[in-house]
Amino acid sequence: MTTEEAKIRIEDLSRKIDEHNYNYYVLSQPIISDYDFDVKLKELIDLETKFPKLKKADSPTQRVGGEITKEFKQVTHKYRMLSLGNTYSEDEIIDFDQRIRKILTDDPEYVCELKYDGVAIGLTYVDGLLLNAVTRGDGIQGDDVTTNVKTIKSIPLKLHGKYPKEFEIRGEIFYPHQGFENLNTERLEIGEQAFANPRNAASGTLKMLDSGEVANRPLDCYLYLLYGDNLPHLNHYDNLQAAKKWGFKISNNVAICKNTDEIIEFIHDWDTARKSLSFDIDGVVIKVNSSQQQKVLGFTAKSPRWAISYKFKAERVLSELISITYQVGRTGAITPVANLHPILLGGTIVKRASLHNSDIIEQIDIRIGDQVYVEKGGEIIPKIVSTNLAKRKKESIPIKYITHCPECGHELYRNEGEANHYCLNDAQCPPQIKGRLEHFISRKAMNIDSLGEGKIEILYDQKLVRNIDDLYSLNYETLLGIEKIIPATEDKKQRKVSFKDKTTRNILSGIKKSKDIPFEKVLFAIGIRFVGGTVANILAQHFKDIDKIKMASYDELISTDGIGDKIANSVIDYFSKEENIALIERLKLRGLRFILEQSEENITTYLEGKSIVVSGKFNDYSRDQLKELVTKNGGKNISSISKNTHYILAGENMGPVKLTKANKLHIPIINIETFEEMIHKKRR
Ligand code: IVH
Repeated sequence: MTTEEAKIRIEDLSRKIDEHNYNYYVLSQPIISDYDFDVKLKELIDLETKFPKLKKADSPTQRVGGEITKEFKQVTHKYRMLSLGNTYSEDEIIDFDQRIRKILTDDPEYVCELKYDGVAIGLTYVDGLLLNAVTRGDGIQGDDVTTNVKTIKSIPLKLHGKYPKEFEIRGEIFYPHQGFENLNTERLEIGEQAFANPRNAASGTLKMLDSGEVANRPLDCYLYLLYGDNLPHLNHYDNLQAAKKWGFKISNNVAICKNTDEIIEFIHDWDTARKSLSFDIDGVVIKVNSSQQQKVLGFTAKSPRWAISYKFKAERVLSELISITYQVGRTGAITPVANLHPILLGGTIVKRASLHNSDIIEQIDIRIGDQVYVEKGGEIIPKIVSTNLAKRKKESIPIKYITHCPECGHELYRNEGEANHYCLNDAQCPPQIKGRLEHFISRKAMNIDSLGEGKIEILYDQKLVRNIDDLYSLNYETLLGIEKIIPATEDKKQRKVSFKDKTTRNILSGIKKSKDIPFEKVLFAIGIRFVGGTVANILAQHFKDIDKIKMASYDELISTDGIGDKIANSVIDYFSKEENIALIERLKLRGLRFILEQSEENITTYLEGKSIVVSGKFNDYSRDQLKELVTKNGGKNISSISKNTHYILAGENMGPVKLTKANKLHIPIINIETFEEMIHKKRR
């Protein structure tokens, strides 16, 4: 194929793929099968690989992400990004309408829209191409998150129709419910904290530095406001409809209302109907339609006078506070939890609410027996917002926060300036020991999955393991025949676990295999506070030997790229305890790896935590060479595609089955150039 022929084909494929993306992600009406789409995308990827000069910034292949940002550039907004005045009652809507009518000479017409609960974004288009995407920031300047936003399939990279030469369109990026639940399930599986609500997930995702990772997440975006000198119409509604024709995702749930009765009807309808939406909204936005009238009304310091938001009331119920229990985490942190009289809230029965820490208990001034207001905003765990003082029982007394650990009785300690109390009896406190064991065997650490699903707890209860090195003295005879009835919990039935021959062998082989786990994972597994996966990798690569980390001074630690004061102090604290040093010596004797082997030395840690499938044929590399590069840069090679795959490095002739699977699971397919960029960029 000549370059000229390739150019024509690339243009044709790009246009078709853009159209199919639009049909699928904006209109939700795909007209071709996933397979046919994948074949086109694959052809385009191949052509761009062969003719890299023909790859354009607005190519649909850009949506797979891959570019890594070190830090987001600050961009000044051309039009200040203001917020909206909030109202919570119908009376306030009537006041708003009256205020407006006083200023205007003609009757206003209003546009009512949904208030999407996500992250505000401003998209600038020049000559029909997405120039940049900027977050609100402080309203004057925001973060340039263009690379991440390009991975959102419902945001057009290139417009069609008759659009203005230059304009800005604003909207809300949000995380749909289904995707949010999947994301949290996956995060909990790998020991990461779940996002409290879809809004946090959207904002966390948008700020990720690895756009390839963003491409894996199903962010979506509705657009709701246009700015520019040459907008096609003199009212907001028609401009929105025009933007729909240019390729933007504009909601159909927009209504023109002539008076407050119609506005209030829209609000009532959506307060009920919102429960059936596949994403969160937290209210309704009411805007004056005419651009001319908007101009007359102008702005206050913070918000336009021509628009207001009505916020739905968070569901709130009254319930009795029966008791407070205190949970102890792996690090010894104490979390108070309120036990409530069961009550229906937002469709589920709520029995517990989070209280976070002692300050919150003091602030709300709750007492046992109080009638408390419980709210479920976007949060997973409901919270207590206040207490009904009028109904307080005379004999009630203020809550005395515990002074001793509820699990081991050790005195609690609170660092100045920190919100949480801690139990410092880490060596003997059962939930801390169990938590450490669970962390040690977890997938990102020693990956002993044969001990998962409660088995480690059984070993603890049977007094067979107290410390992580006890795992390495377990044998067939001690394990075989162990049985335990696991009592029913709220969401699981009672079940019996018994260690038969196969289970026992599996456990022992899992433990044995863990001796091959590389140093950086072992370092993560031993559970030094604040030393997560990335930090463990940095320390391992830099110091190469646990004894060097043990001997490192504060200054040496802190001068390592990526290690701050908090981590340095925690590392020093860990190695100042004799029992920790003794534990490491015992683990060394068991054969665990505490030295970075030469072959493990990464060129970069760039692919850290990334599982990559290498597929197809490559001109300049053998597949084995590429696989070696993956490991040398901290990544992991896997042979088959699953939802846990991060990238597929595709060469020529990647099988169509793989391609379909990758696209179904939304796994980014990268070419060799992108891969080289990924690993060369961070070469140290
Ligand atoms: S219009 C001058 N329309 O709510 C501000 N905002 O509290 C014009 N939002 O910053 C904003 N849905 O992030 C507008 N249909 C909608 C909206 C909406 C959600 C967000 C947006 C805004 C915030 C104001």
